[in-house]
Amino acid sequence: MTGFSEQIVERLANASSVTVLTGAGASAESGLPTFRDPDGLWSEFNPVELASYSAFVDNPVRVQSWYSARLRSSNGVSPNPCHLALAELEDLIESVTVVTQNVDGLHQRAGSTRVIEVHGSLHRIYCAACGRDTQELDVAPDASEPARCGCGGLLRPGVVWFGEMLPEQALAAAVEASSDCDVFVAIGTSAEVYPAAALPLHAAKNGATVIEINLGPTPLSAAADEAVFGPAGELTPRLVAQVRARAASRVN
Ligand code: OAD
Repeated sequence: MTGFSEQIVERLANASSVTVLTGAGASAESGLPTFRDPDGLWSEFNPVELASYSAFVDNPVRVQSWYSARLRSSNGVSPNPCHLALAELEDLIESVTVVTQNVDGLHQRAGSTRVIEVHGSLHRIYCAACGRDTQELDVAPDASEPARCGCGGLLRPGVVWFGEMLPEQALAAAVEASSDCDVFVAIGTSAEVYPAAALPLHAAKNGATVIEINLGPTPLSAAADEAVFGPAGELTPRLVAQVRARAASRVN
């Protein structure tokens, strides 16, 4: 499907609580790569060497420099129309929660005020030994020594690695927001990584209308009330504009 039905726009316009789940596809049009697409990070890099605690301990410079580069990239791009439209949705709906698997901080930069980062953030750096937060991680691939905390421990990015638990509070808040919403919108996620992929299913089970926006079908599509295929940077602003028009037509 390439456009939103009247019925879906109406449900969104009538909703008092909306939860949005975003994945890497929501940031793709900002210029950040996804993970599982043919040109995604996991086609170029081996997650086993970069995204686990054991990889970090085995080769901290390799892991720190890869995350330093991703942090630089995310700082070097801007929120795209998908992020901006989601921030704008807050003008139209009483309660909007964005649950994101992304670690780039672009929703906050776009102006969304309730963002739950279930996979952590590239912008948080902390010591793997003492837990103290620090400001900087800027390690070159050819660095002779890894970056360390004053206590001697290795500095790591505040992202969730394979084999690690999701941040408990964030996950609980995401489950609550998904269980309580009237409408759930999943944008730019392959819906393959759990527990995030279960959130739209929780929402559906609790009676929410589920909308999916993605370039193509995912394992979620069949369970969604409406799956609309195309770029998030075009479809999300279109959906929000339709909701705005519907709200305006009611007032007049
Ligand atoms: P994936 O790379 O698995 O999926 C990206 C999805 O975005 C795919 O379904 C694409 O079709 C879609 N997509 C790409 N460009 C798009 C665009 N312009 N508009 C709309 N959709 C687009 O990324 P995630 O689902 O976010 O976890 O992956 C989930 C997790 O897997 C990530 O958070 C990361 C990764 O391993 C951790 O690092 C813990």
